[in-house]
Amino acid sequence: MISIDSTRLGPALGGCRIKAYSRWQDGLADVLRLSAAMTEKAALAGLEHGGGKAVVALTEGSSADWTGARRSELLADIGDLVEDLDGRYWTGPDIGTGPADMAEIHRRTRQVFCRPESDGGSGDSSGPTAIGVQSAIRAAVEHRWPGRELSTLSFAVIGLGHVGSLVGAWLTGEGARLTVSDVDPSLKTLAQQWGAQWVTPEQALTADADVLVPCATGGILSAASTASLGCSVIVGAANNQLDHPATAERLHERGVLWAPDSVVSAGGIIAAVTRELHGATAAEAEQQVRGIGGRLATILEDARARRITPLAAAGGVVDLRLRTGR
Ligand code: PHE
Repeated sequence: MISIDSTRLGPALGGCRIKAYSRWQDGLADVLRLSAAMTEKAALAGLEHGGGKAVVALTEGSSADWTGARRSELLADIGDLVEDLDGRYWTGPDIGTGPADMAEIHRRTRQVFCRPESDGGSGDSSGPTAIGVQSAIRAAVEHRWPGRELSTLSFAVIGLGHVGSLVGAWLTGEGARLTVSDVDPSLKTLAQQWGAQWVTPEQALTADADVLVPCATGGILSAASTASLGCSVIVGAANNQLDHPATAERLHERGVLWAPDSVVSAGGIIAAVTRELHGATAAEAEQQVRGIGGRLATILEDARARRITPLAAAGGVVDLRLRTGR
C-alpha cells in the first residue's frame, strides 16, 4: 500500500515499511498515519517535499518467507508501483528495509533514496537520523535544564533497532546513566556491553529516568501511559509517538516536555535529499542534519512563550508552509 498524503510542497517522500500486522487493515491505518507524519516532517525540515509512505503488510509469522527470490519479486513490485506514480512519490528505507532493498527497487524506478554508497546512493539513513536525535536531545535538555551535562542525567531508550542502538551507544559515550529495552531479548547483550540496565519496554516507559527516548514503533504515548511516566522530557526517533493529538495536552499538563517526533526524526530524509538531490557531501549533509537541534529549540521556546504545547507550535510551522506553499 502506498499513501501519498501531500504534494503541496513537492514530490511526496517517505520510507517503505515491510512488517507483519495481525490484520492488513492495521497496515492500511499505519500507512495513512505515517504518510501524514511525513508531510509534517518534510515541512518542518524545510524541504520542498510532501509526505508519503509505503507499507507491505505481511501476515503474522510470515516475515521469514520473504527472503531470496521472493523478496526480490516483492521489491520489484514495489518499484513498479512507485514508478507508476510518475514521480509523485519517492521511497526510501524504513522498518524492515535497508539500502540493499533500495538497490533492488532502483532497478524499476529512479524514485528511491538510500541505495548503498557503492551503488550511487547515500547509504544507510540510520546514522544521520541518529545524529538528528542527538542534536534534538541536546536541545531539549538545554531547554529544560540549561547548562546541564548529559553525564549528570539518566535516560531510558525504548527500541534498540537501527537508530536506537546508535543513540544508546552515543549516550553511553557521553557518560549518561542508561536504561534500555527492546522487544527482542537478544539485544540484552548490547545493554551488558554498555553497562546499561535492561528492562522490558513497559518498564522503560515508567522508568524513573530524566529523559525518555522512544525509538521503536509508534503510539506509545496515550492518556493512560502518560499518567504513569517517570520522566520529565521525551525526545526520540519513533514516528507517531502520540496515540492521539490530545495526548500532547496531557503531557503538557503533567509538566512533561515532549519534543515532537516530526522534528526530531528528520535526519534521514534531510541527509538523503541534500545528498542525492542537491549534490551535497556527507559532511555538508551532516551540518544540515545538526540544524534539527536549533529548529527544535525554536519550537520549544515558541511553545513556552505562547503557553501552548510543542505539538501546537510545530503544527503552526507546518500550517504556514502548507498554506503559503513555500
Ligand atoms: N524512515 C524514514 C523516515 O521515517 C524515511 C526515509 C529515510 C525516506 C530516508 C527517505 C530517505 O523518515
